[in-house]
Amino acid sequence: MFYLLQMAQVGSHGDDMTNSTIQALAFVGSLRVASYNQALLRAVIERSPRELEIDVFNLAPLPFYNADLEADGDPDSVLTLKSKIHSSDLVFIVTPEYNQGMSAVTKNMIDWASRPPRPQAWDGKPVAIMGTTPSPLGTAAAQRALRECLGSNNARVMPQPRLLLGGASSLFGQDFKLADEAAIERLEKFISSAIEWARLFQGS
Ligand SMILES: Cc1cc2nc3c(=O)[nH]c(=O)nc-3n(C[C@H](O)[C@H](O)[C@H](O)COP(=O)(O)O)c2cc1C
Repeated sequence: MFYLLQMAQVGSHGDDMTNSTIQALAFVGSLRVASYNQALLRAVIERSPRELEIDVFNLAPLPFYNADLEADGDPDSVLTLKSKIHSSDLVFIVTPEYNQGMSAVTKNMIDWASRPPRPQAWDGKPVAIMGTTPSPLGTAAAQRALRECLGSNNARVMPQPRLLLGGASSLFGQDFKLADEAAIERLEKFISSAIEWARLFQGS
């Protein structure tokens, strides 16, 4: 019996990472209550399998990056931010697109986390990015900018599949639940790919 239990835990290849939990940290770069991007993260959480645990980090209390603040010692919210990114297996970033870029809230979080001590929090970190917008292009420009910014910090941004959801107002219902079947299918594929992506780096 004990042997069978052990087999179930380690898997047929003796790989004990196979069924281990992925601890993910998630950020949404929109602070408003009726945010489509907040709704998108809720859809991710609802559809996540048990092997994926998602801790949502609220970006509202994070101050704007200021080297004077930093020189006095990182504020508590920044210390928590860095430590949570360091200890996570995967980071989800859900960002709206503002003026063909990511939101200032998203960029501010990345800037704080890129600061010392070294190695900085993004170094080697698996990241999966997504976003939604009422316009048809679904945050394509914001995600391009985000990839460049994270890549410059040596984060490992999942290359495919991309989750760009245009036409947000017709994808979510009145209750802000993701209702579009094709979008749900893409979201589920995105989640399973993100888990596989994180496993490639787990323990490294
Ligand atoms: C300052 C500002 C700039 C924007 N620029 C873009 C843009 O470049 N491309 C785009 O698709 N939508 C743009 N939008 C529309 C946002 O995508 C839309 O407001 C979206 O719903 C914001 O995300 P949220 O619903 O998660 O808050 C912009 C909105 C604001 C407030």
